[in-house]
Amino acid sequence: MTPDNFSRREFLGISAAAGSLAATTILLAPEPLLAARRPVAPSDRVRFGIIGVGMQGSGLLADSIKLEGVECAAACDLYDGRHVLAREIVRPDLPVTRRYQDLLADKNIDCIVAAVPDHWHKQVVVDAVSAGKDIYCEKPMSHSAADGVAMVAAAKKSGRIVQIGSQRVSSLICGKAREMIASGMLGDLMLVEGWNGRNEPNGAWQYPPPFDLSPNNLDWDTWQGDVPRRAFDPVVFARWRCFREYGTGVAGDLLVHLISGMMVMLGINEPPTQASAVGGIRHWKDGRNMPDVHACLYSYGDVPVYMRLNLATSMPETYRFQGSKGLLEVTGSGLHFTPQTGTDSSPSYYTASFPRAMREEYMRKWHEDNDARVAREATSESISYRSGDYDDLRPHLSNFFNAVRSRTPVVEDAVFGHNAALACHMANESYFRKTAVHWDETSKGIRG
Ligand SMILES: NC(=O)c1ccc[n+]([C@@H]2O[C@H](COP(=O)([O-])OP(=O)(O)OC[C@H]3O[C@@H](n4cnc5c(N)ncnc54)[C@H](O)[C@@H]3O)[C@@H](O)[C@H]2O)c1
Repeated sequence: MTPDNFSRREFLGISAAAGSLAATTILLAPEPLLAARRPVAPSDRVRFGIIGVGMQGSGLLADSIKLEGVECAAACDLYDGRHVLAREIVRPDLPVTRRYQDLLADKNIDCIVAAVPDHWHKQVVVDAVSAGKDIYCEKPMSHSAADGVAMVAAAKKSGRIVQIGSQRVSSLICGKAREMIASGMLGDLMLVEGWNGRNEPNGAWQYPPPFDLSPNNLDWDTWQGDVPRRAFDPVVFARWRCFREYGTGVAGDLLVHLISGMMVMLGINEPPTQASAVGGIRHWKDGRNMPDVHACLYSYGDVPVYMRLNLATSMPETYRFQGSKGLLEVTGSGLHFTPQTGTDSSPSYYTASFPRAMREEYMRKWHEDNDARVAREATSESISYRSGDYDDLRPHLSNFFNAVRSRTPVVEDAVFGHNAALACHMANESYFRKTAVHWDETSKGIRG
């Protein structure tokens, strides 16, 4: 090659070693306190009542009764089939009821675990804390911004413990990412992106209704809460997520996990200042009124955040934290950090436009000034953490029951749950209003 034939490739090739990063993988171990099963004195046993023993509630019930010093005292559901299920999980003589007020009035019950559809969250939480019960309530905390405001006020007024069930908050992986981001290793945080996608009918909430469901074994009138009445419909009972009247869409179902995990990792506890969403019902045209694809751009203070949900393309839950010193990718099973120096690893290709003598002088000087640094930087290491078969739900529940026992704060209180849910409501409001929206703290409302 003659000196006149400089190309961009040549410039980059000179420092090819800079691209060869070493890699380390580390297995994350749970905190010793979480891993150990510590015996609990009989006087410290926590007795809970469960409200809603459906898909999620049945899992919470089974997990909770396996925790040391935690027992289920009663179960409530509006569908009698779930009384049978609760007794199968706990014991054949477990007291069961259709009226959750019975659990709230029971002096032998210390606290409540609630996994009812989103449109019932506010009433159950407000009634529980007003009756003096601590409560673990499923995510998204609220069905609307106004519901969330009322729930925060009721929690504060009562002084009861409220834990919201976005278990990413107790994730080992999110905890590690938080530590890494707080250390400054990302440099300037430029942008956060996250996505989650599924591609099968179950993932799109086309759940099969129970075969025997009828107004005889389900209190359909109460199930509907305070939304406009409709005739008994087993499909709505099983697939309430598809409908805005009861559910909060992919935002409340999936985005809330991405948001609460991101809040933990960034160490923030605030709603976005602005949101702008697009989406539509592009694949599951089954009568639903909530979008099956939904993308939202947020501002969290000065940090741009871009989240995408999709019910017709499978894409495992993933975040990318983009920083001036590297890229941190977080998934459900681990995280991976690839450092970036943010410095030139080769002479500027712009100097191909210099006349030869000037270019040669530039090259000589560049190498004199930079070769040693480039060789040093070439040895920078990427790092991965894997979490093994760690499950974040058990520690999240455990954190709640320990808080009830010791009167210590939970990891995800009503304020955190409210802030995470607000991001979901803003994504929905922006989608339906077809305009950017912001959160107005003074009037506590979402404004266009
Ligand atoms: N944290 C997670 O990963 C996760 C996963 C799934 C669901 N969830 C959340 O859990 C909640 C429940 O979802 P699901 O899929 O279990 O729903 P589901 O429809 O399977 O179960 C809800 C149950 O609540 C009962 N119910 C409704 N209103 C009631 C009332 N007023 N009193 C007593 N019982 C009542 C219903 O009869 C039903 O059995 C939702 O808020 C959902 O977002 C969280």
